[in-house]
Amino acid sequence: MRSKSIIEELNFFQTETEKKLEEEKNLENLKKLYYEILGKQGKLTEILKKIKDLSIEEKKEVGTFANTLKETLTIKFKKKQEELENYIQLEKIQSEFYDITRPLNTKYGKIHPLSQIQYEVEDIFLNMGFQIMEGPEIELDEYNFGKLNFTEDHPARDMQDTFWTKEGFLLRTHTSSVQVRAMEKLKPPFKIIVPGRVFRYEETDASHENTFYQLEGMMIDKEVSIANLIYIMKTFLSTFFEKEVTVRLRPGYFPFVEPGFELDIQCLICKGKGCQVCKYSGWVEILPCGLIHPNVLEFGGINPNEWMGFAFGMGLSRLVMMRHSIEDIRHFLSGNLRFLEQF
Ligand code: PHE
Repeated sequence: MRSKSIIEELNFFQTETEKKLEEEKNLENLKKLYYEILGKQGKLTEILKKIKDLSIEEKKEVGTFANTLKETLTIKFKKKQEELENYIQLEKIQSEFYDITRPLNTKYGKIHPLSQIQYEVEDIFLNMGFQIMEGPEIELDEYNFGKLNFTEDHPARDMQDTFWTKEGFLLRTHTSSVQVRAMEKLKPPFKIIVPGRVFRYEETDASHENTFYQLEGMMIDKEVSIANLIYIMKTFLSTFFEKEVTVRLRPGYFPFVEPGFELDIQCLICKGKGCQVCKYSGWVEILPCGLIHPNVLEFGGINPNEWMGFAFGMGLSRLVMMRHSIEDIRHFLSGNLRFLEQF
């Protein structure tokens, strides 16, 4: 009789426990519940204390029942634990946005042909003692034009050529914008190059883009001559193209140099015969350059009676086109993988 009531109590205890197990959603709480129920000082132990007054027969009966119960509950706890652990794992995976449909054999990216050439050109100049400098793409009029000796009414400032922001800033139209910034920052003598992106508000065609890349160079020292300029340019070009390239110098006008030149190289695509890139002239304008105008030195806080310098600005995009015989500048920013994967 007494054993019956204990067994009843155990039955009730089992149903209650299973209900709690069913409802449990938290792994920590599940562990607590386990100790509360099946731990050494748990409820089961508590109930089984009552068997000490039973006869040996009854003790056996209740004992067997209790053991089975304990086994059943232990298994159910284990199952529940696994269930909750899986659930946590799933939540973690989902929170990481892991895309299981992603192909495993993804291709590696490559360095863009423009960057490849930029690094290469940088290396050549670094070896000649130049240092690399950078400047902002969104610029003030004074650095892009004013302090470079452009007059107020110079046509380059025109809405037609320059992107202006509503606030009156502009997108630099050339890396020459860094010339005066460098003069303000560095103590002469110095030699710098400035690779960077520039912007022009103009029609695009095979050799013109509204966004392209230049590399500016500037050297300031006590005695700088046109011969120094030509020597550095020739050294650079023959290193870069790994052969003597045919060049020509023409006078060129830029407000910030005096005298100013256009250094052209014979078109490497058509070897001077004439093609779309050289506009059927056989020559490609690659290096405008000149001696820095004394006004610009002065604007940069450098005494033109004491210091002089040269500057050049090469079209990096054009250089890449020459190297790889690329016929259209618009490929660079097209994002076309069939184009980019060739390099
Ligand atoms: N900044 C000029 C341009 O973009 C090029 C240039 C640079 C000319 C340095 C002379 C000296 O057209």
